[in-house]
Amino acid sequence: MALDIFKITGPTTLAGTVKISGSKNAALPIMASAILAPGKTVLSGIPNLSDIEVMCLLMESLGCKTQTADGKITIDSTVIDKPFGDYEIVRKMRAGICILGPLLARCGKAEVSMPGGCAIGYRPVDIHLRGLKELGAKIELKNGYIVANANGGLKGANIFLGGAFGSSVLATANTLCAAVMAKGKTVIEYAACEPEITDLANCLVKMGAKISGIGSPQLTIHGVKNLNPVEYTVIPDRIEAGTFLAAAAITKGKLKLTNCRLEHLMAVVDKLRSMNVVVEESPDGCEVASNGQIKATDITTLPYPGFPTDLQAQFMAALCLAKGNSVITEKIFPDRFMHVAELSRMAADLRKEGPHVIVCGVEKLISAPVMASDLRASAALVLAAIAAHGETIINRVYHIDRGYDRIEEKLNAVGANIQRLAT
Ligand code: EPZ
Repeated sequence: MALDIFKITGPTTLAGTVKISGSKNAALPIMASAILAPGKTVLSGIPNLSDIEVMCLLMESLGCKTQTADGKITIDSTVIDKPFGDYEIVRKMRAGICILGPLLARCGKAEVSMPGGCAIGYRPVDIHLRGLKELGAKIELKNGYIVANANGGLKGANIFLGGAFGSSVLATANTLCAAVMAKGKTVIEYAACEPEITDLANCLVKMGAKISGIGSPQLTIHGVKNLNPVEYTVIPDRIEAGTFLAAAAITKGKLKLTNCRLEHLMAVVDKLRSMNVVVEESPDGCEVASNGQIKATDITTLPYPGFPTDLQAQFMAALCLAKGNSVITEKIFPDRFMHVAELSRMAADLRKEGPHVIVCGVEKLISAPVMASDLRASAALVLAAIAAHGETIINRVYHIDRGYDRIEEKLNAVGANIQRLAT
């Protein structure tokens, strides 16, 4: 693993056009869904990220062949001879768990490693297992692996998929992928409504699945016997887009985002407007411009269509420079606050109280050596560093490479000063 660092000199004001890449979190479960359709599935709009490489590795370990070129991935799932998700691969990326439902549906059995620890807090898999059990799978936990069997075949069921923190994105993906080939009718209540789930459902429908209620918390599925491989383009990455919106806000800049779907960012745009930032829709995306000083605002993360947890850190960075005090409440991952201590090293005035952080706006952020801890926390540090006075060193930028396609190149093209250095 390359241990690159970023050297970021600030402050700079961003201006120009940024093309948003395809969505990582749509691409990963859609890649796994290729298991359901023997043959060659061709996916376009795939971002160039280390998480996507890990997913390719995982698919190959099952027996698939993968080929990547020009933002396209071809997954040949004609042969799946090892329905086994190895710990050595799954521990690198939790989304590896989304092979579980497709494998069970295709092979009648699956053994997938439990994902293990995560920097954003405890992330159980009970809802995934509940969904699959309701469809008739027998599930045991053995030596750190989820061992699932559906010898008698999967059968449609009425499934309530809510958990203590609301819906679950990848548990919905797993249950949906298993239900599309289960015998009879399945109703999933409390399905996640995130655009990435809608994208997965649309891809499954293109493969021949029968799903209604797509985009709503109630999905109705009529199982089919076979699915066919397809060509499909994944949606633009709403979290990458939201990160650039926050970048414009924190640097008092002006950006045009292309390949961006503003309808996936309504809660974010609403917050930006109350922060005194102007956001307007444009033909293939949007334009965002600072209107002077950022105003404080309160943010609570919620399942879609609420404000996404994956943008909480980046917006905290922006609110550090707001006039007034903001309260940020994390309702999806109550411990997802690794960035608080690092932002504080850059002279942010933050106070954490359980799942809340009180952000007292300061006049300026000051550079410091900081440590990237997880993907979105790292993005927040990049934004803070662009706006901070002086030279910030960010260590462990491999966390950023998991989810942002050439972030430094995109930011430098609109005026940032970021150097990637190998250590
Ligand atoms: C997806 O993770 C995303 N990952 C995450 O993106 C994102 O933060 C998260 O959804 C929430 O939006 C991918 O799509 C690959 P959840 P997922 O299950 O599906 C609890 C990023 O930065 N829960 O929707 O794993 C869970 O602890 C990442 O790109 C259970 O209790 O998240 C959390 O409180 C990180 N039991 C809540 O549900 C379960 O079995 C929502 O998590 C599953 C989840």
